Amino acid sequence: MTIIDPDITVAQTLPSKFYTDQDTFKSILSGFREHWHFAGHVSQLSKSQPIDNPLREPMLLTLDEGTVHCLSNVCTHRGMLVCTESSNGRRLQCAYHGRTFNLDGTFRSMPEFSEVENFPTLADDLCSYPLEEWKGILFNSISGQNFGSFISAIEDRVGWLPIENFKHDSSRHRDYQINANWALYVDNYLEGFHIPFVHGDLHQVLDYDGYTTELFEGGVLQIGIANEGEPHFDLPAGHQDEGKKIAAYYFWLYPGLMLNFYPWGLSVNLVIPESVDKTRIVYHGFVGDENQIGLGAGADLDKVEEEDQFVVEGCQRGVESQAYERGRYSPTKETGVHHFHRIMTGQPIS
Ligand code: FES
Ligand SMILES: [Fe+2]
Repeated sequence: MTIIDPDITVAQTLPSKFYTDQDTFKSILSGFREHWHFAGHVSQLSKSQPIDNPLREPMLLTLDEGTVHCLSNVCTHRGMLVCTESSNGRRLQCAYHGRTFNLDGTFRSMPEFSEVENFPTLADDLCSYPLEEWKGILFNSISGQNFGSFISAIEDRVGWLPIENFKHDSSRHRDYQINANWALYVDNYLEGFHIPFVHGDLHQVLDYDGYTTELFEGGVLQIGIANEGEPHFDLPAGHQDEGKKIAAYYFWLYPGLMLNFYPWGLSVNLVIPESVDKTRIVYHGFVGDENQIGLGAGADLDKVEEEDQFVVEGCQRGVESQAYERGRYSPTKETGVHHFHRIMTGQPIS
């Protein structure tokens, strides 16, 4: 078993097999079913839509008379995916042999089955999965527990924002393929250490010395402080960050969910492992204040992304080298990465 020492001053980073070994990759992925994942925001819902997140289990969301359901997306006849794209139809129909389901997942009809005995039964319904909504954001899971503790760090800090009223902006949608292991992308996200070296423009708008990293159970919060004259949140009276010029709250939740709050709204980034050395990065944008778009730390996200992908793909080539096994952490700048590696190797939160 890999140990990441709780004392960052003596700890070594994650061994390279976590980024390169097929069996290690598969065993880490199997643990994702116990976590909560982003399924969508209420402003982007159709009556039915497939869920696209790191859970490798076909699921869909349906909106049935105001109630949202998270259902299996696997047809109970011969296993075709029921829903392959968003639809506003009032029922679900499998494209293979025409079986239909109601939006709550119950079986409705099937051609050429009138002579089948003991049909339909409950086994012909689509099963449902755990789903939770927090301020308009929907989270799904397979066996996720304790949603309250999962969301509490976010609720405490940005629960005052009217997130449920944010509007989905399809022009902000991105879907990138990168040639790197998913955890290298997360490592890079969890430190601002590289900002002056990698992100020249972003470095101009953020106060590097004011950048902070906070750890909580199952996640990390990084706070970007605005340089003079750059946009920041107008925090409510009594807020714990009152008086600070906060340009961005960057939340990461294990394994690969990033909720980036800017004065203009929310950018959700999903890290979706495809294989041991291929990852999809999906962006969804939700606008709260149109007047703040294009300003400050959340202005040119495409450029920042390209700069990050360059270093992450470079690291993949490096960790595959026989010359590299593991490294060390900066105790002042890499506490978030250390925390992630502790979670990833199943060690208690200290
Ligand atoms: S697999 Fe869906 S109707 Fe046959
Ligand atoms: Fe970066």
